[in-house]
Amino acid sequence: MKREELIRDMAAHAAKNKVDIVIMGTERAKKFIGKDNQKALEMLEIAIIEAKKIKKLNEDILLFVKEFNNLETNEINIHTFIKEEIKKFQITYPEEIKFLFNGGPKNIILKANKFLLALALDTILENAVEASASAINFSVWQESEEVFIKISNNGELIPEDMIHKIFQPLRTTKTKGTGLGLFMVEWVVEKHKGNIEVKSGISYSKKEQLNSIEFIIRFPKKFAP
Ligand SMILES: Nc1ncnc2c1ncn2[C@@H]1O[C@H](COP(=O)(O)OP(=O)(O)OP(=O)(O)O)[C@@H](O)[C@H]1O
Ligand SMILES: [Mg+2]
Repeated sequence: MKREELIRDMAAHAAKNKVDIVIMGTERAKKFIGKDNQKALEMLEIAIIEAKKIKKLNEDILLFVKEFNNLETNEINIHTFIKEEIKKFQITYPEEIKFLFNGGPKNIILKANKFLLALALDTILENAVEASASAINFSVWQESEEVFIKISNNGELIPEDMIHKIFQPLRTTKTKGTGLGLFMVEWVVEKHKGNIEVKSGISYSKKEQLNSIEFIIRFPKKFAP
């Protein structure tokens, strides 16, 4: 590990301990405030919630760095994996959003880091939900030694002047976005020696016109770090 990487990890660790102290201290402070001072109790509660968010964010970053550096690979049955992911998303996201899976072959095994793969899918789905998609469609297939995962949605189209830049860091059209989501996705995919493509446009069928935003990820089937 490079020296500056080590320093970054140490900083993250130090921050984790400090946040724990803030949370514990604030919890204790609450006990000294009488029930009659509802406003102060509410404010401390908000401070605790926000501190817990920082803690979670920090833990996620540390976990990401750990998985990324070690890059242990798992033999993933991609059909089962997508089904499990859909189950998870259905609980997390509003009921109005429909998740569809074309099934695809049931026996494709992909060698990849499961944690990072799930993180990449989560990130793509989060964007689809934020683009007001009402349907998200998965398909998987295999071509010789490569595995493809396609995730499409019918949300708002990606503006033409944005589509070539969405994988670049800090590119965002959202007031509260960081523009790091898809940058991280591409990073993960490339670490597995794969690639990712995006298409955004109108699809025409007999009856209707639909927005179609597609992310196609290609992985080598037998990836070795
Ligand atoms: N499914 C999608 N539909 C429409 N636009 C999208 C979609 N996915 C990504 N984008 C566009 O790509 C940009 C970059 O996405 P990315 O996930 O990297 O950052 P973000 O979503 O803006 O911020 P963050 O992920 O930190 O919340 C978005 O701001 C948005 O304009
Ligand atoms: Mg995003």
